[in-house]
Amino acid sequence: MALAAASLLPILSTLTNYEYYTSAGINSGLTADKPNFYLNDKEIFIYSGAVHYFRVPRQYWRDRLRKLRAAGLNTVETYIPWNLHEPKSGVYDFGDGGNDMSDFLHLEEFLQIAKEEDLFAIIRSGPFICAEFEFGGFPSWLLRKENIEFRTSNSTYMNYVTGWFRVLMPILARFQFTNGGPVIMFQVENEYAVSGKHDLSYMKMLRDIMIDNGIQELLVTADNPIRKTYGTLPDLFLMTGNFDEDPKAQLDMLKEIQPNRPTMTMEFWSGWFDFWGGIHNNKTVDVFKYNYEQILKYPASVNIYMFHGGTNFGFLNGAGNLNYDDENSDYHSIVSSYEYISPLDETGDYTDKYWATKDLLEKYNPIKTQLPEVPPSPLKTAYASVKLEQEMFLFDMLKSITPVYSANVIPMEKLDINDGNGQSFGYIVYQKTGLTIPANAVLQIEGRVCDNFMVLVNGILVSPWLERSKDLHKVGTSMVKNSEIILSDKNLTEATLEIVVENWGRVNVGAYKQLKGLWQGGVKLDGEYLYDWTIYPLEFKSAWTNGLSNWKNALSDSIGPALYKGTLTINESPQDTFVYMKNWTKGIVIVNGFVLGRYARMGPIQTLYLPAPLLVEGNNTIIVFEHFKPASTVNFTRNHIYESF
Ligand SMILES: *[C@@H]1O[C@H](CO)[C@@H](O)[C@H](O)[C@H]1NC(C)=O
Ligand SMILES: *[C@@H]1O[C@H](CO)[C@@H](O)[C@H](O)[C@H]1NC(C)=O
Ligand SMILES: *[C@@H]1O[C@H](CO)[C@@H](O)[C@H](O)[C@H]1NC(C)=O
Ligand SMILES: *[C@@H]1O[C@H](CO)[C@@H](O)[C@H](O)[C@H]1NC(C)=O
Ligand SMILES: *[C@@H]1O[C@H](CO)[C@@H](O)[C@H](O)[C@H]1NC(C)=O
Ligand SMILES: *[C@@H]1O[C@H](CO)[C@@H](O)[C@H](O)[C@H]1NC(C)=O
Repeated sequence: MALAAASLLPILSTLTNYEYYTSAGINSGLTADKPNFYLNDKEIFIYSGAVHYFRVPRQYWRDRLRKLRAAGLNTVETYIPWNLHEPKSGVYDFGDGGNDMSDFLHLEEFLQIAKEEDLFAIIRSGPFICAEFEFGGFPSWLLRKENIEFRTSNSTYMNYVTGWFRVLMPILARFQFTNGGPVIMFQVENEYAVSGKHDLSYMKMLRDIMIDNGIQELLVTADNPIRKTYGTLPDLFLMTGNFDEDPKAQLDMLKEIQPNRPTMTMEFWSGWFDFWGGIHNNKTVDVFKYNYEQILKYPASVNIYMFHGGTNFGFLNGAGNLNYDDENSDYHSIVSSYEYISPLDETGDYTDKYWATKDLLEKYNPIKTQLPEVPPSPLKTAYASVKLEQEMFLFDMLKSITPVYSANVIPMEKLDINDGNGQSFGYIVYQKTGLTIPANAVLQIEGRVCDNFMVLVNGILVSPWLERSKDLHKVGTSMVKNSEIILSDKNLTEATLEIVVENWGRVNVGAYKQLKGLWQGGVKLDGEYLYDWTIYPLEFKSAWTNGLSNWKNALSDSIGPALYKGTLTINESPQDTFVYMKNWTKGIVIVNGFVLGRYARMGPIQTLYLPAPLLVEGNNTIIVFEHFKPASTVNFTRNHIYESF
């Protein structure tokens, strides 16, 4: 008998969530052919929350999932990042790949923990995931392929998707509900209606590959309801909706598109993310609570995006480009914190939105099953500040990198390194030695730089600093087309010129030719093209960083780009902390060889979450790569600090 949720009496049960739905054995997975979902023939409302395993240290997965369950949710949702799991074409990493991010990639362990913590799971395996993540989850080596057309049935693109799904889907298939696992639903692609592609045969191909590789649970798509069925195939997928306001109108639209089928909000945005140079977004608990209640009351199923945002560790942040062009004409990098102002903050601590969620689910969830006790809050420490007493200039850093030689400047993806997969992340350095540079000669970089640059002459920085948000519109960034810089007021011979370009994170939606470095044109000195470049990939892989020698005592008036190093000594078991980079200008922080993330004085955030599992008892090496002007210490706090310049 299908009753609306609100009219059901609470079932006082000592059963777990999993027992409630499976005590009579498993006969069928989730169905969507009635006005509400049924799982194994029992009516279910899916109360889900997004937690991305690749944004949370593995040691914390159980803690975050238990907290999610303790709030009364019955399902966890995660995306799957193709770029991390297939870092080189045909080479897969599910936790033991020996890459810096490997420990975040034990997908099977994450799903096993979800089941142990009494949660169902929703998998959003893309291949495109957006997620404010580097290139929307696409591997950068795809950019090496000629004429590839992303997110379409283009055969070049589909060959790589098929290769990936043939590896991924059999793993996921083992964790399906009807195989005794937690996964009840798969989302195909992601907000396909706004891709501008409208190649629905592509959507069918994705479905077919999934089914051919063992996927048997319910398949859905997700788009803003206003897009109607533009990005989906109603016969093959249930459409779910993404939105954060006006739930009734949005859900009504879904009902109209799919009468007599369940309504579900796949992304109910609990908060939002921040761009460098932008304002700190802040969606209040009142707004969150009001809209969440409207969804529960409707009644509809709902996934809170994010329930726990986590962190864009390393170089893994995405970026926005509202012009949706491949030229990089309106590029905005997203910050490393993916806190998202979600119910659990970046440290896994409780916020008002957590308690609001718990209260509302107690009120509206008709199925009462056992819940764990709410776990304690995490311990945090503000460690004593660390003096960075050693330094290494670019010149010494480059000594331990094997360069690539090229007649013209080329983007990092096209470097013939990493077994033919190019450079994915970090910085790229274009060098010319033995140059004659007349006084007041102008360096011209044709097209746009991707994404910002530092120019050095004989090791001295001569380009402007990217310090304040207003500098985002000045020479040194992709906002300026055909940059020009005067190199020196002296006549120089046998000079060395270096152009250091930062890949500040690839646009995560709407642009697909996301090459990084210099590639839109040539580089000229007083109108003459410069040829025969020595190019250094500056990837900051931990093995390289940990192997650096040649450290010198830091000068008090040092200017970057340079590395600065110090030691954080911890005499007890490490705790979570935040690295406070105020008074530094722009760069990255590296802890024990692992790239923690980016900082920039412009804000809106001045801190980087440093979780305890990245620290050890004893000495920890803190290295900062600063583009411009360093401070002498790195400080630590117990909370994020938001400030803009
Ligand atoms: C799609 O893939 C084929 C390879 O089969 C390629 O030749 C073609 O140019 C690709 N790109 C487009 C835009 O169709
Ligand atoms: C968000 O805004 C509310 C009210 O405007 C304020 O109390 C709260 O401190 C803000 N939170 C953050 C993280 O800025
Ligand atoms: C650079 O060399 C030119 C040509 O020899 C000379 O005219 C000019 O004065 C020199 N400029 C400086 C700043 O030395
Ligand atoms: C940080 O910078 C501000 C302004 O640039 C300066 O007044 C202050 O002394 C600096 N603090 C430290 C600890 O260096
Ligand atoms: C830890 O670092 C301190 C200060 O840099 C140094 O004096 C000490 O010898 C180091 N200890 C170990 C075990 O390496
Ligand atoms: C960082 O710590 C040092 C030493 O404790 C202190 O002097 C300085 O003011 C702190 N800097 C900031 C920006 O808080």
